[in-house]
Amino acid sequence: MNVVVEEIEIRDAVEGDLGEILLIDGLVFSTTWSPSFLRQQLCSEKHSHRIIEKAGKIVGHSGLMRLHDEGHITTMAVSPNSQGFGLGRLLLADLCSSAISLSLVAITLEVRVGNTRAQSLYQKFGFVPAGVRPNYYSDTGEDALIMWLDDLFDEKVQETIEETNKKLLQVKVKNG
Ligand SMILES: CC(C)(COP(=O)(O)OP(=O)(O)OC[C@H]1O[C@@H](n2cnc3c(N)ncnc32)[C@H](O)[C@@H]1OP(=O)(O)O)[C@@H](O)C(=O)NCCC(=O)NCCS
Repeated sequence: MNVVVEEIEIRDAVEGDLGEILLIDGLVFSTTWSPSFLRQQLCSEKHSHRIIEKAGKIVGHSGLMRLHDEGHITTMAVSPNSQGFGLGRLLLADLCSSAISLSLVAITLEVRVGNTRAQSLYQKFGFVPAGVRPNYYSDTGEDALIMWLDDLFDEKVQETIEETNKKLLQVKVKNG
């Protein structure tokens, strides 16, 4: 088995990324945003949307909405073939760094109660469960778990960001 190291880049999303974002969402979410809704978010000053590329190919994305001094994670997805290699952690570290540089103090999100994989990722950065929104997801009626990271300036958050970036700046991808 060969092991190759591929370059990772995280950058702002642009309108030309729309098709790739929707393609990934179609693979990982049971319902997806419409192209016009996504385009609106990409143009909005209240939203930041980031893209992660592996060897020049888009493999994931994240979205953050700002409201006063709080952020709301609107989306986070990694393409199925690229999951489990640390890209989700890199995206979340990047999102928390962006939030800190925007002087946000806290971040929240909703996640399906059954999505323990995503919950585990968020917990690594200090997000904690803070309540449930019953029947939140219209496709299945599943409840949403509300999670909050109350203090983005907690040094543990900074440590997790640094540790993630250090370990995973280049992601080892098993090939063959
Ligand atoms: C959630 C998601 C973004 C994580 O991306 P990823 O690149 O696979 O995540 P990583 O490889 O960085 O792993 C991050 C953490 O997730 C958890 N995780 C990863 N793979 C896992 C698996 N197979 N089973 C359980 N937990 C897993 C672990 O806690 C892991 O941390 P660790 O590597 O320190 O153990 C990705 O799985 C995804 O796109 N899922 C579908 C869409 C989704 O659920 N989005 C979130 C909506 S709120």
